[in-house]
Amino acid sequence: SLLPVVLAGGGGSRLWPLSRQLYPKQFLSFDGGPTMLQKTLGRLDGLETQAPIVICNEEHRFLVAEQLRQIDTDNRHILLEPVGRNTAPAIALAAIAATQDGADPLLLVLAADHLIQDVAQFHDSIKQAQSLAELDCLVTFGVVPTSAETGYGYIHQGAPLGSGYGVRRFVEKPDAATAAAYMESGEYLWNSGMFLFRASRYLQELECFYPDMLRACHQAMTHTTKDLDFTRIDKDAFAQCDDISVDYAVMEKTRHAAVVPLAARWSDLGAWSSIWELSDKCELGNSYHGDVIQEDTRNTLMRSESRLVVAIGLEDLVIIETKDAVLVADRHKTQDVKKIVERLKLEG
Ligand code: GDD
Ligand code: MG
Repeated sequence: SLLPVVLAGGGGSRLWPLSRQLYPKQFLSFDGGPTMLQKTLGRLDGLETQAPIVICNEEHRFLVAEQLRQIDTDNRHILLEPVGRNTAPAIALAAIAATQDGADPLLLVLAADHLIQDVAQFHDSIKQAQSLAELDCLVTFGVVPTSAETGYGYIHQGAPLGSGYGVRRFVEKPDAATAAAYMESGEYLWNSGMFLFRASRYLQELECFYPDMLRACHQAMTHTTKDLDFTRIDKDAFAQCDDISVDYAVMEKTRHAAVVPLAARWSDLGAWSSIWELSDKCELGNSYHGDVIQEDTRNTLMRSESRLVVAIGLEDLVIIETKDAVLVADRHKTQDVKKIVERLKLEG
């Protein structure tokens, strides 16, 4: 059986000032509808799965519980991390929780902050991945790249294997020149950041590459406390874990990776530029949200939360107004918002 594991513990710092430490992007809605987390869970409707495990930081427990309650998810299982240690340990906790009663389900690992417009295709890819994972592969979902994006993992597609393909190499976040060469070659796919594998398969890989991490996670899970829908784990043990993503810790190293194509109009709403690209725009290429007025302005994302925002004679910008901060940036440089957030953190 299939057990969805939703990773909802990231900071989403590139979407500052809307996405904040206390309210990261997976808990926001960018179109006035359900939040990214709610959409992630809603996309599972129609698939045969067990009740999902949502894994997030302790400080977001009420946000998560409330958002699950709103969409009426029953059998809530929310695993709380006392500190963030990135996705490799987070998935390990879920895998340990899933195997505690002697079961060994297939885990469908999902990010909580992606957009997938073609749900039927998404379900098809999951079914393909399921049969590959039965063969004990760690299955990735590969997207045909459209630019030499450096914020993604790249999958060198291999020979046909079962219902998908083998993986010759997995490279997480290559530099710009390498990404451009991959793009040129036509042999690489973007890693969409979703995975499907048997829980025990993942734990074996960690045992092999990061035995200390696995030990720390096991230890953290032997001292859990349950309250309401929440499972809390031991902080001291978990804090010992390496801080590393599944991509670097396992996918770059494993010899058991496989890939299925994902043609589901996927996107990672990673930065304001991608929000602009995906949004409905007027004939001038502007995207509006809230109380905004423009004159002679083109290809600009304008978003107001609390005040009237006026733009005159501008081009290729993003303007994000919130109660306590305003971002004005070149639309092609919105990846750098992350740098500012890091500076703000340092300066307190
Ligand atoms: N529970 C938990 N704990 N979740 C986390 C943590 C953590 O410490 N850190 C991140 N997450 C969640 C994020 O909220 C997001 O849903 C998901 O895990 C992926 O983390 P990101 O930080 O967004 O990863 P990324 O975008 O840099 O890279 C990944 O996704 C790309 C596609 O969007 C990689 O898998 C890349 O290879 C991939 O191309
Ligand atoms: Mg991401």
